[in-house]
Amino acid sequence: MPHPELLLRARFEAALARAFGAEYQHTDPLLRRSDRADFQVNVAMSLGKALRRPPREVAQALLAELDLSDLCVEGGIEVAGPGFINLTLRNDVLSEALSELLADTALGVPKAVTPDVCVIDYGSPNIAKEMHVGHLRSSILGDTLARVLAFRGHRVVAQNHVGDWGTPFGMLIEHLVDVRQEGRAADLDPSELGDFYRAARVKFDTDPGFADRARTRVVQLQAGDAATLALWQQFVNSSKRYMAAVFERLGVGLVDADVRGESFFNAKLGELADELQARGIAVLDDGALCVFPPGFSGREAEPLPLIVRKKDGGFGYGATDLAALRFRHEVLGGTRLLYVVGATQQQHLAMVFAVANMAGWLEPPVRAEHVSFGSVLGDDRKMLKSRSGENIRLIELLDEAVERAHAAVLEKNPDLSEDERRRVARQVGIGAVKYADLSCDRIKDYVFDWRRMVAFEGNTGPYLQYAHARIHSIFRKAGDQQAGGAIRVLAPAERALALELLAFGRAVSEVEVTLEPHKLCGYLYGLATSFSSFFEACPVLKAPPEERASRLLLCELSARTLRTGLNLLGIDAPERM
Ligand code: ARG
Repeated sequence: MPHPELLLRARFEAALARAFGAEYQHTDPLLRRSDRADFQVNVAMSLGKALRRPPREVAQALLAELDLSDLCVEGGIEVAGPGFINLTLRNDVLSEALSELLADTALGVPKAVTPDVCVIDYGSPNIAKEMHVGHLRSSILGDTLARVLAFRGHRVVAQNHVGDWGTPFGMLIEHLVDVRQEGRAADLDPSELGDFYRAARVKFDTDPGFADRARTRVVQLQAGDAATLALWQQFVNSSKRYMAAVFERLGVGLVDADVRGESFFNAKLGELADELQARGIAVLDDGALCVFPPGFSGREAEPLPLIVRKKDGGFGYGATDLAALRFRHEVLGGTRLLYVVGATQQQHLAMVFAVANMAGWLEPPVRAEHVSFGSVLGDDRKMLKSRSGENIRLIELLDEAVERAHAAVLEKNPDLSEDERRRVARQVGIGAVKYADLSCDRIKDYVFDWRRMVAFEGNTGPYLQYAHARIHSIFRKAGDQQAGGAIRVLAPAERALALELLAFGRAVSEVEVTLEPHKLCGYLYGLATSFSSFFEACPVLKAPPEERASRLLLCELSARTLRTGLNLLGIDAPERM
């Protein structure tokens, strides 16, 4: 039996055609979950307007064409208020639908009918710098979206568009040369790179001779001078090692093979500029080659350019992004191009997309979306900084999360072995940081709050992990008598849980469309609360055999759904904590 929601939808679509004519067959019946009943159909209101008929009359006309007796309980169909159609499903329908979920490894998440190739730009830090908390959101959000889209059956290609090219490397390379000349070992160990960068910066700002050399270096780098490239490569290599360690610690799936940074596109920029100019899309403006996409203007209403080639002949961020976009669709075959990049780059990306449109690189089905996000704030509602006012190093933040989780787990369950506690602390600490981030509306800024994020109550990662582990403790107590039987949904708390379990597919699909993981978080939190109401109202282990078996299966589905949902968020679900 298909999902009851699909059945209801199909029935209503057919009834719409019968009641109002074939042209209404594809009208969305606006089927929703509801507090008043199991589901609600809201189409009568909009249709009433279109047909100039009272919505209640429309609802009645629709119901006259419908036989739902195999799906809804007697008296389970009513027209309420201005014309809502409230539907209450039969218990055997719920039971059968759950048995099907039980047999489905995807837990009711359908595979996409027309799979996309999703190219996701995420992580993407500037190299030769420490990664800080600002890189947290792009990495976590991008990783979750990659998991959700892959789960829906899309092909996902991750792109770590690192900033590994441009003027900063002039000063970094010259500083490296100096340090080695002074006979000091230049430690490019990733954890030292921050200090190294700062030292180079100070010299650049205070020593004009050094600044000149740095600028010459940039030219040599651009020209592909072999010795310069070899020095540059040392920074790239050490940064890659460092990045890989951070992503590994964070449990983010970006690997070395996903790194395709700005340097990769350098060789393509000249040709790109020439083509845009030849096609009349880019024009020279005071020596710089620019595109003026329609709809972008500055403070004085003057048209805003996306600069392709600067006056001095150099290429910038805009040109690289144009080349990368084109590559993602022409070479990687991307149809849905996602950019998980902070809100501060909104205008830049909008202009890149607009220019790509002018150039014909975004013809359907290819489309580009900026998955924008707000900042991580401290208690003072300013950008999160360390006590001494510096950027917080990401790796230190993660260490602290694990440390705090360790203390919390020790308090919660002193019986775990030290080994297991360490493992669980890592899962809980990292999970807490991720969940705190993902559960906020991504467009908004959020305040980083240690206490809230590692709490075992409320809409937190640890709460969901604990809900999952608690179900496993039921299995442990049940021993091996848990196998067999069928799900029979009877009690109100069982019905509520059943409806929640059946909504997983919709929750995942919603993230696929809106790219808003907080919707999945909200769903999982609702599921965990429904489970806990069920567990309070319905004894499991002490119930008579048939009920016991059925309720154990409800427990199993709940645990699997929680675990799968958490995994889609990149969060581990330990069985004991
Ligand atoms: N490297 C940039 C930064 O750290 C982010 C790059 C985002 N991706 C892109 N295609 N522009 O701000």
